[in-house]
Formats: sequence, structure tokens, C-alpha cells
Amino acid sequence: MQTLTITTPDDWHCHFRDGDTLTESVRASARVFRRALAMPNLTPPITTAKRALEYREQILTARPAGSDFEPVVTLYLTDATKREDIQIAAKQGIKAAKLYPAGVTTNSDSAVNSIETLYPLFEEMAQQGMLLLIHGEVNDPDIDIFDRESVFIDRHLQPIVKAFPELKIVFEHVSTSEAVDFVNGASENVAATITPQHLLLNRNDLLVGGLKPHNYCLPILKRSSHQVALQKAITTGSKKFFLGTDSAPHEQNQKESACGCAGCYTAPVAIELYAQVFESLDALDKLEGFASHHGADFYGLPRNTDKITLAKKTWTVPEKIPLNGGKILIPFFAGQSLSWQLQE
Ligand code: NCD
Ligand code: ZN
Repeated sequence: MQTLTITTPDDWHCHFRDGDTLTESVRASARVFRRALAMPNLTPPITTAKRALEYREQILTARPAGSDFEPVVTLYLTDATKREDIQIAAKQGIKAAKLYPAGVTTNSDSAVNSIETLYPLFEEMAQQGMLLLIHGEVNDPDIDIFDRESVFIDRHLQPIVKAFPELKIVFEHVSTSEAVDFVNGASENVAATITPQHLLLNRNDLLVGGLKPHNYCLPILKRSSHQVALQKAITTGSKKFFLGTDSAPHEQNQKESACGCAGCYTAPVAIELYAQVFESLDALDKLEGFASHHGADFYGLPRNTDKITLAKKTWTVPEKIPLNGGKILIPFFAGQSLSWQLQE
């Protein structure tokens, strides 16, 4: 059987949630990843170092027995975040803070209304060597949802990068050719995560032949020319692009609803999805850099030293994942077949 062995990968963008979902979401990531960056958009959001470190403990407690999985926690920036909060967080070893423009995505209502007023925080972060993680979309009712990322680049990202050349920035879950071009043209302090859904799908997969709520995420899937630009970015082997699943579990009835929420639950099949994409692009030799090296290098963390092995084998993704307490998650690609499988 054909196999592929790579350094154990990390996931630099993941939503674990809390409550009933936590045990399952941690299990799914710990299955394959050594580290995952745990996004802070809980209700209420994680706005202090104290809460971030408590959340880290919560995730550690939820790990399967014997797992050496390591969550990396981050702060959620708000209009009320102070320089001192950044200093305390840096002192406690927190590596990054996340900027959500208010109202732009799931649990972002208490986020940032005026990005420019955060400049003193960005200055402090640059001094402390803390990374700024950005959900790069505007929340302007006059801007079409498909244009919200490219408008964000012009209105906010260009000026931030110009004002803080020393600040390390991760442009999260890029979804457009404009974002790829921007990252490629920026300094080595600017990098981006790319999700499996933005590599595998385009907006036809969301809207043609009936609405597919489990393919709905933010940033929304774009037309195929953007998908192709993202695929091209990963096949170059550029160190600026790395793995961030944006795995975002929501209960079945929240997704399959008259006002369904955004997020694809990709963690249970994440590395298999990426392997499928890289293989389809004839670039399997670039998977390890993207999944296991570039992110750790950008974060200034050591690369993992152990390995995982994937086997070339057709298998079917489960239709549903029941949680303790009776709730149900529908994994991304439910019922569809994949061509690589982790050897556990
Ligand atoms: C994420 C979530 O559910 O928390 N949803 C999503 O569609 N990606 C939030 C986010 O990363 O935007
Ligand atoms: Zn996310």
C-alpha cells in the first residue's frame, strides 16, 4: 500500500468551543495534530490572560488518555483591551492575539469596532514579539459579502502592515487571489493560514443544486478563480502559507436552520482533506512544509520531531458524530469518500 510519512503537523487555527463539544473537538484534533491554536471566540470571549490559561487547562483536561497534544491559546481583542493586558499576556507566555472586526463572524459581537484605535496595542505586541492574528473581512453593509476580504486589505491591512513593519501578522483563512497576492508581496513578517474547504471547494459547492449548509463558513467560499489562486499558493512551497483548518463545530440543528451559522467541522478529517488536495495538484511533496514546518517556524516554535503516516486508501467519512448529551455534529465531507487515511 502507498504510504506517506511526514513530521507531525500542527493546526494554527481551530475552534474547540467549550461545554458538550469540547471533548469531541479536542479528540478530533489530538488524533493527528501535536499543537493547535485554540481560537478565543467563546461566549463570553477570552479577553484576559487569566481566562486564556484557564481555557488551556480545560482543553488539556479534555484530551484523550495518554495524548501529548498541546493547545496554544490566544487573546480576543476588544475596544476595551489595554496595553497592560498585552504586557500581562506576553509575560504569561501567550504568543498571539486575535483581531475580529465586530459582527464579522460567529461570536464576534463584542469584538473591535474601530481597528485604528488599537494601534497602541499593535505597537505593544510588536515590542513583545506577540503575533497579531487577523480575521480579514470588513463588516460594512454596503460591501458585498464576496468582496469583504479584498476591501479589508485596502482599508485596514495595508495600513497596519505599513505602520508596524516589525509586527508579525497572520492573515487567517485567506479566501481570495487578492489575499494571496498581498501576502506574497508583503515582508516576511506577514503569513497566512489556508483552510481545507477553501482549497477543495468554491461557491458552486455551496449554492448549486440546493443550499449546502455544511459548506457555509466565513470568509464565504469564492468563485473558482480564487480557489485556483489558493491552490497555486500552496504548490509553490512558499513558507508564508501554512495549515489552519478553521475547524468550527456547530450542532446539526444550528447549521441546518433558517438562519444557519458559519463554520465547517473539519478537524476529524483535516489532514486527509489536505493530502487529497496536494495529491490532486501533484504536489504531495509540499504537504509536509505546509502542514508541519512553516507554521512552527513563523510562530518561532520548535518543529515537531515525531511523525505521522497516511495510507492511500479509500474510506467514507461518517455521516454524523454524536456528542455526550445527545447533540449531533455533522463533519465536513460527511458521507463522501477520501483517498488518504491516517494510520492510527
Ligand atoms: C468560525 C466559528 O464558528 O467560530 N466560523 C467560520 O465560519 N469560520 C469563526 C471564524 O473563524 O470566522
Ligand atoms: Zn476561525
